[in-house]
Amino acid sequence: ESTLGAAAAQSGRYFGVAIAANRLSDSTYASIANREFNSVTAENEMKIDATEPQRGQFNFTNADRIYNWAVQNGKEVRGHTLAWHSQQPGWMQSLGGSALRQAMIDHINGVMAHYKGKIAQWDVVNEAFADGNSGARRDSNLERSGSDWIEVAFRTARAADPSAKLCYNDYNVENWTWAKTQAMYRMVKDFKQRGVPIDCVGFQSHFNSGSPYNSNFRTTLQEFAALGVDVAITELDIQGASPTTYAAVVNDCLAVSRCLGVTVWGVRDMDSWRSGDTPLLFNNDGSKKQAYSAVLNAL
Ligand code: XIL
Repeated sequence: ESTLGAAAAQSGRYFGVAIAANRLSDSTYASIANREFNSVTAENEMKIDATEPQRGQFNFTNADRIYNWAVQNGKEVRGHTLAWHSQQPGWMQSLGGSALRQAMIDHINGVMAHYKGKIAQWDVVNEAFADGNSGARRDSNLERSGSDWIEVAFRTARAADPSAKLCYNDYNVENWTWAKTQAMYRMVKDFKQRGVPIDCVGFQSHFNSGSPYNSNFRTTLQEFAALGVDVAITELDIQGASPTTYAAVVNDCLAVSRCLGVTVWGVRDMDSWRSGDTPLLFNNDGSKKQAYSAVLNAL
């Protein structure tokens, strides 16, 4: 196959990309994105601050620009993200307790109703665990609203759109030996045992010198899949874009039948949230990097 999306489709998977609405008017950007990828995630436009800037007033202008572009070009959409400590609008940042709980529920219902039946996977909850060795939850206004906030989010999401796969998504959870990975594993195992609706786990996979790729990532993917959830690589970027590391990540997904696909977090290096790391598959002039060929050959 000659594109990433078509190559991934040979094994029933997708190869996706994060899209920024304001870059779609850049023809180099849009033509690469359309040619190479068959799944799309909004880099920022479906987040809480973008979709509910004032309480109860939803705005899907930029989210729909991405959604409509994706669907018109035959791509599936990953929804990102409904409940998160970051990129909350000001009104939500200042809430706590039962008022925040209700606001979270209303937000999930409002956004999922707009896209009901249209989203392949939703990142229902993003980044709820703390970094480091504690294995604890991250402190946030959501966590302080009651530690059952994650399962409330998932139950709300299932009722709002039963057709979407519901994912928990996080970073620094790729290395099987890390405490954060084990804490996330215990949560997913508990949810499956108690019937909390969860369908998938997203591994962001922002690899850099402080959080490097480790070959035990494949074990991680296998262990989560064995709990009865799908897994996905949701925000892949690799500092320096080592071709061998990119190929290893792709091979880890291909080795796990429940790995749905891979999403890279941007098109060209200049589009990356970490552009200084030159972590992506395309040069700024739109040409393919060595990492691109390594990924295509691995698929
Ligand atoms: C990042 C975007 O790429 C940036 O444009 C934005 O300024 C901050 O958020 N984990 C996530 C993503 O789940 O939503 C983040 O995206 C990167 C880390």
